This record gives sequence, structure tokens and C-alpha cells, in this order.
Amino acid sequence: MAEKNNESNPQNIKPFLRWVGGKNRLVKFLMEYMPSDFSIDNMYYEPFLGAGNLFFRKQPKNAILSDSNKQLIESYQAIQNYPELVYQYLDKHLSKTCKEYYYVKRNEYNDSKSSIKKAALFIYLNKTSFNGIWRVNSKGEYNVPYGHKEPPSFPSKNELFNISKSLENTILSHKDYKESVNEADSGDFIYFDPPYPPLNGTSYFTHYTKDRFTKEDHLELAYIAKMLNERGCLIMMSNADIPFIRSLYMDSFYIHDLKVTRWIRTDGKRYKVGEVIITNYKV
Ligand SMILES: C[S@@+](CC[C@H](N)C(=O)[O-])C[C@H]1O[C@@H](n2cnc3c(N)ncnc32)[C@H](O)[C@@H]1O
Repeated sequence: MAEKNNESNPQNIKPFLRWVGGKNRLVKFLMEYMPSDFSIDNMYYEPFLGAGNLFFRKQPKNAILSDSNKQLIESYQAIQNYPELVYQYLDKHLSKTCKEYYYVKRNEYNDSKSSIKKAALFIYLNKTSFNGIWRVNSKGEYNVPYGHKEPPSFPSKNELFNISKSLENTILSHKDYKESVNEADSGDFIYFDPPYPPLNGTSYFTHYTKDRFTKEDHLELAYIAKMLNERGCLIMMSNADIPFIRSLYMDSFYIHDLKVTRWIRTDGKRYKVGEVIITNYKV
């Protein structure tokens, strides 16, 4: 099998989802902060995968990709193995899309058992829902309202095939991040992009699944990042520029300010939040 040429045409592969907290606008900075001594023979880990913006830009040779969102990972797996079939279903949705169709398909999605049909529905709903939010109710049913005014842009057949090809040498799994990085070794690269912490008390920047990523989760993540640092892994993390996050990493990591802010809407209010990139190597 021809080796994937990871640097040759990285711009060609676009993530197939829009994802809350997705790093599509920051990926160019992330590329600049990647370690220069990361060898392509080492493993690339992305345990908070989402839309995988950095993975698709970097195109590493060997990767372990995971997320706690089961439906998200199952969609990646369906594209990895059956891009043609996923495309055929998706194309049907594209030709019929409208508000009424969306709600019919939303119900169908929650009842569907077929992984390939479900993957196409996942992409369809993601592209036509309100702001591409992923939200489920307490029973785990996807419940985001329709939100599309313009015809949505779906991945083309060619794009789905390229995505499938780029996933050839990857292991995709539905896992908590802790389990995923358990086996990471010296020289492996890990990009952590966790959901950002609550802004105040119970207000979260973003809601991904019925589980929240709390302040305690961030404390635990910092502990695990330090353990992996001692093991010799190369670590890069995206996080919110707030004192709580800085206090967790300032003693043993480098914290780089990004001159980028974004507006986060939560509880009907808008907050301006800066971003940091945290690394355990000098850039
Ligand atoms: C900020 S998003 C990642 C965005 C991604 N880097 C991109 O560019 O699209 C965070 C992701 O972490 C996942 N997540 C939340 N809690 C998790 C956990 N405990 N373990 C693994 N993944 C988790 C969410 O499902 C979500 O997809």
C-alpha cells in the first residue's frame, strides 16, 4: 500500500462536520505550535476528536482518534469503511432537504439501528440543524431544532473518499479520553481539546453530550497531562484563557496566548473568551 503522503496536500481534506468548539479557525495556529521533533513513526493521539480539524490538516501517518460521543465515532467508522454507501444516502437527503424533512429524519435518526444510514443522517442533521449543535435529551435522543436558511453544504463524494482514505491507518474508538491515552508512549504526540470549563457555577460554554466536562474534570485532565509529560509524551492542549486554567498548567507547561477571542453564548448572555495553547515543549 502506498504510504500516505502526509504533508503533500493537506488542504484538500476538509472536516465533514461543523462542531461546537471546533478549531477550524484556529487550526493554522495549532499547526505552528506542533512540536518540530514529532516523528511520523510515532503515534498521533486526538482523544477529544469532534470534527478533527487538526487531524485532517496534519494528516499524521498513524493515529488513535477517540471521543466520548458514540454516534460521532460511529459516523467516522462508517465513512472509514463505506464511503460510497454513506454518500448515496447523504445525496438522497440533500435532494429532499427542507424543514419538514429535517424533523422526519430527526425522528428516524433516533430510531435507526443501521450504522451506515445513521452516519449519513448524522451528517445531514449536523449540516442543517441550528448552529450544528450536538445536544441530546436525558434519554440520549438528539433534539436540536432545524436551523438552516441557506441550502447546506454537504461533503461531496470525492471529499468522503478522501476522508475515508485519510482514516485508513487510524484506530477510531468511542472512549473516555483517559482510557484512550493510557497506552501513549514516549515520543507520541497528544492533542487535547477538551470542552472548556464552566464560566461560572453551572453555566457551560458548550453542551456536547448529556455529560458535562466540569472543573473537577479539568483538574483531573491537568493531572493526567502531567503524568504523560513525565512519560515523555509531546503534549499540546487548547483551552480557555481564564485564571483557573492558567493556574493548572503554569508550573510545568508553556502557556501561549493566542490573539484570538471568541464570543460564547450561554444562558442568553454573551461572553468574550480568549484562547491559549498549552504545550510541554518549547516552541
Ligand atoms: C472542543 S470539542 C473538540 C473539537 C475538535 N478539536 C475540532 O476541531 O472539531 C471537544 C470534544 O470532546 C468530547 N468529549 C467531552 N468529554 C469527553 C471525555 N470525557 N472523553 C472524551 N471526549 C470527550 C466532546 O464530545 C467533543 O467532541
